[in-house]
Amino acid sequence: MAEPFEPIRAFVTGFPIKHSRSPLIHGFWLNAHGLRGSYEAIEIAPENFSVFAASLREMGYAGGNVTIPHKETAFALCESHDTAASAIGAVNTLWFENGRLIGGNTDAYGFAANLDEFASGWDNADTALVLGAGGASRAIVHALKSRGFQQIHIVNRTLSRATELADHFGAGVFAHSLEKAQELVPASGVIVNTTPLGMEGHAGEEMALDFTKADPKTIVTDIVYVPLETPFLIAARMAGLKTVDGLGMLLHQAVPGFEHWFGVRPRVTPELRAHILSHM
Ligand code: ATR
Repeated sequence: MAEPFEPIRAFVTGFPIKHSRSPLIHGFWLNAHGLRGSYEAIEIAPENFSVFAASLREMGYAGGNVTIPHKETAFALCESHDTAASAIGAVNTLWFENGRLIGGNTDAYGFAANLDEFASGWDNADTALVLGAGGASRAIVHALKSRGFQQIHIVNRTLSRATELADHFGAGVFAHSLEKAQELVPASGVIVNTTPLGMEGHAGEEMALDFTKADPKTIVTDIVYVPLETPFLIAARMAGLKTVDGLGMLLHQAVPGFEHWFGVRPRVTPELRAHILSHM
């Protein structure tokens, strides 16, 4: 534990890390709550991550976030995990409890909280279509399962990765090749893009789906948030569907970590959204 008047310190580490928006989010909340804490971005190469993690207490950190490529290594190094991290097999948030390093995964929470905020009732559907089978997809499939989805269809360019994910989550999760996406649209109440297609820097590459045969109640969301309006979301909106951008997932996934380290549960407000958008 930090001394009473010593500022609490937290971090985000990845490799690279300079594009992370997390310092902006936590900096905004520290300021909004008048807390004398810090949240630093630290670039750590993969070969140095274990030593870094073992020295956190010594360096005076209350905890922090870990991102690509450290999420699986962090999982292996933690003494205990929350339910989401155990189900996903990756950690994005570290904190201490009684001197033990705990690893949590808040990506699934962030995904669900974003839809709760902007598409209330989204989890009344029972069938979902998930495009992509990487780390983000893993967290999202966990969120969908936790919210009671009965059929979750993962489509991916590399079928073996989708199959691996479906096997990991078991009953009700199915793997398909990317070409199958279109025919799964009409039966899907929620459709999620978890691939980087449509992201700035992926010019000319976008996730193209025809939404005209979708159920009018279908909710479409993307994890990409630069740009906020991806071609994928625009196509869904043009077909009359409700869409939710990916920025809210990023903001909401930061909430539990801030609460663990600084002891205050922060809120995702329009002011926070505007603050992050003004730095994009
Ligand atoms: P993350 O951890 O952000 O999910 P990732 O593990 O690299 O990142 O996964 C990226 C996902 O986007 C994968 O499903 C990937 O498909 P493959 O498994 O076939 O690589 C998908 N993806 C990336 N670029 C793609 C492209 N040009 N076309 C189709 N899918 C793509």
